[in-house]
Order: sequence, then C-alpha cells, then structure tokens
Amino acid sequence: MKNHLLLKAAAGEKVERPPVWLMRQAGRVLPGYRKLRGSVDDFTQLVKTPELACEATIEPVKLLGVDAAIIFSDILVVPESMGLPYKMIESKGPWFKKTIRGNKEIDALNNGVYHDWEYVIKAIEMVKRELNDSVPLIGFAGSPFTIFAYMTEGVGSKTFSQAKRLLFAEPDTAHRLLQKITDTTIVYLKSQIKAGADIIQIFDSWGGILGYDTYKEFSLNYISQICEALNGMAPVIVFPKGAFFASHELKKLNCNVIGLDWTTAPEEARNALGNKSLQGNLDPCALYAGKRVITDAVNKMCRQFGSRGYIANLGHGLYPDTPTDNVRYFVEAVKNYRD
Ligand code: CP3
Repeated sequence: MKNHLLLKAAAGEKVERPPVWLMRQAGRVLPGYRKLRGSVDDFTQLVKTPELACEATIEPVKLLGVDAAIIFSDILVVPESMGLPYKMIESKGPWFKKTIRGNKEIDALNNGVYHDWEYVIKAIEMVKRELNDSVPLIGFAGSPFTIFAYMTEGVGSKTFSQAKRLLFAEPDTAHRLLQKITDTTIVYLKSQIKAGADIIQIFDSWGGILGYDTYKEFSLNYISQICEALNGMAPVIVFPKGAFFASHELKKLNCNVIGLDWTTAPEEARNALGNKSLQGNLDPCALYAGKRVITDAVNKMCRQFGSRGYIANLGHGLYPDTPTDNVRYFVEAVKNYRD
C-alpha cells in the first residue's frame, strides 16, 4: 500500500499526520455522484451495478484526496439479502415493503449462505484494481441492531418504537432476529475482506436510542460477536453513534478503532477508551461555515486527539447540501496539520 496512514493509525502506530476520510464521502456532495445518480432510476441500481459503484467509490479519492476509499453500497443490502428488499424514496430515505413483526416473518427469512451481494464483491474487486494499492479500501456493514431497526420499522424513525417494542415485549424473538442478522453480517463481511477490503467499519447508527442495559444486551453483544468472528482478518472500526454512554463496555470490544460523534470530548474519549485508536468527530454542520472556521476547528480537533492512534473524520455522515469546496478545506486542513 502506497498510503499506509489509515492502517497505521488504526494500529496505533506513529504517523506524520492523521489520515482523513469522511463518512458519506461517496455521495451527493460530489458532482460526479449526482451525475451518476441522475443517470439511473433508483439508488439501488447504482449499488447493484459494479461499474457504477466503482466510479462512485473512486471519485472522492481523486477529487478530495482522502486517505481511504469506502465501497459505495448501503447497509441495507443485508436485509435485502435476507428477503426484505428496500427502496430509497427521494428526500425521505429507505422504505421496506415487508417488515418483521414476529416469529412468522423471521421464519420466512433466508437461511444459510447468501450470494445476493455478489455485486458488492464484484465492485470491491474492481475498486481494488483501480486503486492499485494507492489507498486502503474500507468495507462496511450496519450493526445488527441498526439493521434490526430498519427490518422492524420498515422506514427510518425518530423513536424506533416498533423496534424497541419487540425488545421489551418479546425479547426472545428479538434475539432470534438479531442472531440471524449477525450470522449473515459475519459471512458478508468475511466475503468483503476476501474480495480485498483492507479495513471494516461497523455502523451502529441507531444503537444510541437504547438505554444502557438494552444497549449492552441488544446491540453491543452482537457487535462483539462480529468483532470476535473477524478476529485478525482485518482491522475493525466500530462507530457507535450516540452510545458513548457505554464507553466502559466499548473499551472491551475486540476492535481497533472506536468512531466518535461530535458530542464526545477527545480527552474524555482517550481516558475512557484506553489504547483504542479513535476516529471522528467534527460536527458535519461545521462544514457549513467558511474556510477559516473549518481550518481552526480541524487544527483544534487534531491537537486534542493527538497524532497517535487518530483518524480524522466527521462525527456522522456528510450532509448532502455541504458545499464541495468546504469538504475540500476540511481534508486540506488535516493534510496540512502537524503536531
Ligand atoms: O460514502 C459512503 O459513506 C459510502 C456509501 C454509504 C451509503 N450509505 C450510500 C448512500 C454508506 C457507508 C452508507 C451507510 C448507511 N446507510 C448508514 C450508516 C451511516 C449513517 O449515516 O448512519 C445508514 C443508516 C444507511 C441507510 C440509509 N441510506 C439512509 C437512512 C439513507 C437516506 C438518507 C440519505 O442520506 O439520503 C440512505 C441513502 C444513501 N446511502 C445515499 C447514499 C449515497 C443517498 C441516496 C441517493 O442519492 O438517493
């Protein structure tokens, strides 16, 4: 690999400056993506056509100069492979025709080894050839609880009360579904690594809506199973959005990096998470400000995290209406940062 920064930082090794990439870097902030998106009827066509997914993956590397590519796909390919196809509704988000209400629907889900994500694997192989070892490629999946939330709600939600209803009213049923999602996700992530993904990120986007005990029981347990199953195959980044309240437990995960949202102070995270590498955590809304504000915020963030075991990123995905130039200023500021 010509650019080792991300893998070194994930391993806690010393680097000359922090590596930088952005969650949702391959998306609507980029002109090439918007053009690609305009050329197809729906989002899933991009995900399912390896040539297009490959183009969307590479664009931020070329245009923004980030230190890593993330495979263009979605966390929802996992529920789809299990038998719940989704649609992406313009300006609304994901929508599932079928949802899970109880054991009857869980029984009807696919079992065993899934090949429905062959297109993701082809896209990864294609991206690896194009990148030609210039920067590492990040593979990813949603956390089992985050996927569970979409499978039970069928849409995004503020409260995820359907998902939480199942946890409280029928915990055994909930565990059955979570275990199926976990088993599928492990096979999926292993196949991404086999195809060439250099590092894996697990997006626990919705675990933070749970309480301390429910988070441990219904989200962390299953993230932990995935980390154990991938043990040593590739480094793992866990992004537990809104769940830093569980830092004491997160510290015990068999993963290399914990991603932080913007609500956590760098120093607090360093103290709480021991020798884990850290990733994050600028508020994506800071990128609505100008170059000066962005540069100052980046310098402060890098200084506070310190150069060892740190990966610069946002505290959540880029918002689609962020000016592309401001994304560039963010990346440049990290690249110019020195201790
Ligand atoms: O650059 C990248 O990060 C790689 C691609 C990527 C996408 N989705 C593409 C996408 C990744 C890593 C994801 C992860 C994802 N998908 C998450 C976890 C991260 C997070 O934001 O918390 C979640 C919860 C989803 C589910 C999802 N996909 C939602 C809720 C939405 C709608 C909201 C939105 O941002 O539009 C999507 C759509 C989606 N996924 C788009 C892209 C580029 C936009 C679709 C479009 O262009 O029409």
